[in-house]
Amino acid sequence: MTIENKPDSLEDLFAHNRAWSSRMERDRPGFFTSLVKQQTPKYMWIGCSDSRVPANQITGLEPGEVFVHRNVANIVVHSDLNALSAIQFAVERLKVQHIMVVGHYGCSGVQAALEGARIGIADNWLRHIQDVRDRHHVMLDSLPEAARANALCELNVAEQVVNVAVSTVMQDAWSRNQSVTIHGWAFGVHDGLIQDLELTVDGTKPMENQYRAAVQRIRYKWSKPADTGTSEYIK
Ligand code: CO
Repeated sequence: MTIENKPDSLEDLFAHNRAWSSRMERDRPGFFTSLVKQQTPKYMWIGCSDSRVPANQITGLEPGEVFVHRNVANIVVHSDLNALSAIQFAVERLKVQHIMVVGHYGCSGVQAALEGARIGIADNWLRHIQDVRDRHHVMLDSLPEAARANALCELNVAEQVVNVAVSTVMQDAWSRNQSVTIHGWAFGVHDGLIQDLELTVDGTKPMENQYRAAVQRIRYKWSKPADTGTSEYIK
């Protein structure tokens, strides 16, 4: 579907769906029948609900290949039964090998948290990002203003990677030597590219040093002058 051919009604959505279904069945006979039997995704994606960050399209993965959990600003709260259930299902039932926590530049949730803007009930959800902001306020205050939202986006990813890693689900998986690796990524809405923040946690060693190194890289990266073009991330 091209941008010029955007659907503008619900009828269009059904029409596109029928066309997609018959195209898939024509090109790959038996595709849907095999999907019915099982899903065996290797990947779990924890990302923002933002409509510009669709997990499958960005990564070229097909139905059946990535298990997705999304919420506003890709937050994994210790007591969020929704996120924890999704992670447990992915790890224990589907046996995914990789979990990627994916933030994105230009995230309005991160921006609102940074500014302390009042939205409504979501303020309470975004309070978790404000906690991240407050934890790193010395670093954020030292950065050029235009870089702060990008830095907070990446810091939020780092914190959420840690939150996944310390969950009972991951601790239990690693204690039985299940191989699952957590990754921290950031997606650029402006260029369509994923950046690996290189905070990759597999339970084999304490992650404090990796976390600290990731935070230092974020500080170094965003303390560069804005004329490197990085300020273009701010939308
Ligand atoms: Co977002």
